[in-house]
Amino acid sequence: MSENQRTLVLIKPDAVERGLVGDIIARLERKGLKITALQMRTMDSELAEAHYEEHLNKPFFPGLKEFMTSKPLVSLIVEGDQAISVVRLLAGATDARKAEPGTIRGDFGLSNQLNLIHASDSEESAKREIDLWFS
Ligand code: PPS
Repeated sequence: MSENQRTLVLIKPDAVERGLVGDIIARLERKGLKITALQMRTMDSELAEAHYEEHLNKPFFPGLKEFMTSKPLVSLIVEGDQAISVVRLLAGATDARKAEPGTIRGDFGLSNQLNLIHASDSEESAKREIDLWFS
């Protein structure tokens, strides 16, 4: 079933620092997805806590917040048919050491924290995250 969707993508600080922004955007575009908004900014503490609200009490949250607020990242709205699940497939498994070759994390990463990209995991989170980043 075809359904046009919008999803939020973050190209994380590790990918920006390594000069992989163009590569990651090219993969999304070559798949046929459209970039309909884009900004570069540094996440502050408040946005990190709102964005990762379901992880606030996880043991890895302090390290995740430190990493995500440390340097600039790129946030995007990506649009297309079934965009939410398609972008998750292109991203690969959260732990980049276990992500399939051919995915962004599988090709470029070796960590579950420095894993290059965030992509909304459901329609509900896509809406919530797009509102947070592009209100
Ligand atoms: S969980 O625990 O299954 O709900 O975690 P998950 O949804 O797979 O990912 C949560 C985000 O936290 C980042 N992160 C880590 N996850 C798991 N373990 C460790 N140690 C860890 N450190 C950081 C992970 O990259 C996910 O980030 P996003 O931006 O959502 O992809």
